[in-house]
Amino acid sequence: MAGGVIRPYTEEDAMALIQKIHHAAYRCKDALETARWYEKYLGMKLILSIAEDQVPSTKEPDPYMHIFLDAGSGNVLAFFELPTRPPMGHDPNTPAWTQHLALEVASMEDLLATKERLEADGIEVIGPVDHALFQSIYFFDPNGHRLELACNTLRPGMLEALDEVKWEMLEEWSKTKKAPKHARWMHDGRYKEMFPLA
Ligand SMILES: [Fe+2]
Repeated sequence: MAGGVIRPYTEEDAMALIQKIHHAAYRCKDALETARWYEKYLGMKLILSIAEDQVPSTKEPDPYMHIFLDAGSGNVLAFFELPTRPPMGHDPNTPAWTQHLALEVASMEDLLATKERLEADGIEVIGPVDHALFQSIYFFDPNGHRLELACNTLRPGMLEALDEVKWEMLEEWSKTKKAPKHARWMHDGRYKEMFPLA
């Protein structure tokens, strides 16, 4: 099995209670448009469509279409269209960049080709942004959900260095609410000298 985004797959993973994300579900405006958009721009195939007039868990009358898209390696991204409900809003107190879904691509070529394909159809793309461990582009789907495409660019030693400071950073943050500086090298460019490519 392949490694995770920023962490290799370990033997402990096989023993863990949670094996992976089974599916993550978001609301969409139009299920057909959404299925077509994800296939056209991201190559994500429609796996399954489920529709009911009432919610199975609560028995509430609520006609819906629930679609499941293939996000690679057994990962599934799902959407609900709820035509009788008022249009979806977003938390006005949370900046638009915060809540997002990041999908991994295999290479920088794939990342840049996707950016080109999106921009050719007038979809605004930010990036690539260099996060040292990976490079990312950002854009919005037709429902207003923010998406990130990430390509791993991990260098030897990076994960070990970050692993060492993760709790210290979190404890400092918890007290000060100011960004701890332990891993500043990720975004100030120093990683290139600190973790040279062999
Ligand atoms: Fe992200």
